[in-house]
Amino acid sequence: MPRLLILGRNGQLARALSAAPGPFETVQAAGRAEADLAEPGAVARLIEAWRPDAVINAAAWTAVDDAEAQEAGAREINARGAGEAAQAAGAAGARFIHVSTDYVFGGAPGAPFAEDAAPAPVNAYGRTKLDGERAVLEACPGACVVRAAGVFSGGGADFPSAMWRLAHTRPEIGVVDDQLTGPTWAGDLAERLIALALAPDASGLFHCASGPQLSWAQFAAACFDLAREAGLPHAQVRPITSAGYVRPAARPADSRLASTRLEAATGLPAPDWRTGLSKALDAWRRSR
Ligand SMILES: NC(=O)c1ccc[n+]([C@@H]2O[C@H](COP(=O)([O-])OP(=O)(O)OC[C@H]3O[C@@H](n4cnc5c(N)ncnc54)[C@H](OP(=O)(O)O)[C@@H]3O)[C@@H](O)[C@H]2O)c1
Repeated sequence: MPRLLILGRNGQLARALSAAPGPFETVQAAGRAEADLAEPGAVARLIEAWRPDAVINAAAWTAVDDAEAQEAGAREINARGAGEAAQAAGAAGARFIHVSTDYVFGGAPGAPFAEDAAPAPVNAYGRTKLDGERAVLEACPGACVVRAAGVFSGGGADFPSAMWRLAHTRPEIGVVDDQLTGPTWAGDLAERLIALALAPDASGLFHCASGPQLSWAQFAAACFDLAREAGLPHAQVRPITSAGYVRPAARPADSRLASTRLEAATGLPAPDWRTGLSKALDAWRRSR
């Protein structure tokens, strides 16, 4: 039976992959202890020893604001480590599926970005992830690099969980209304990564984004609508501008992705985040 190695055991995407690995019957999710992307040679040794048929890299430096002051550390994991993992997977004859981000794009609101649009990251995290895409595809030309956006799971560290948690103590929450995104439930992203791992002819860049695409303030309002329907604490959203919510790392005003290439390669339609948000709320309630 085919063997799947998931890099990043405790992250929200890695957990979704472990929960629904499709036809992969032998699955290993490796955390930092077994496969530290910051330690040269560690991931390669694991791949050589375990000989997976496919490797999905769900591990990354994801602390967007911290990356501003620690760009070299973030690049070590997001670029050098990812490239080394891709190299080792290719050498072992394994499929390599890597996850990147909509934050490789920046700029003013416009149409959703296709895969061949010119990247222009506006923060250090985006730069390190873009370097990672290039390192992966150079080391393993048959790899798939999937750019995702606004990944959520209800696991506690994501945007909806933060909104539901804040609603316990605040009647009103300011959320930026001038940044557009296509938030994606981790389970929907995981399903598409598994499908790519099973599609031997698929390679290169793919975009995964759920619809309908919207602003973070609109997404927050949807989180609270759902909480209200479930009889849970909810808050009013006060739309604010990015200028009123300054953080160490700038965010792109519009990083919406066009995902037709992924739909064609997997046969799966673009996910609807509203379905995923209900599942995330279920997960969030179960975890409390
Ligand atoms: N979250 C989003 O909104 C979003 C949006 C677009 C793209 N993405 C991309 O989606 C992928 C999955 O993100 P996620 O939301 O699941 O992130 P996450 O929940 O923060 O998980 C990231 C995982 O990476 C692991 N990790 C960090 N440094 C590592 C290292 N040196 N060696 C091995 N593992 C390491 C972490 O391990 P520890 O638990 O030990 O810290 C954690 O388990 C990433 O590539 C991310 O860039 C995420």
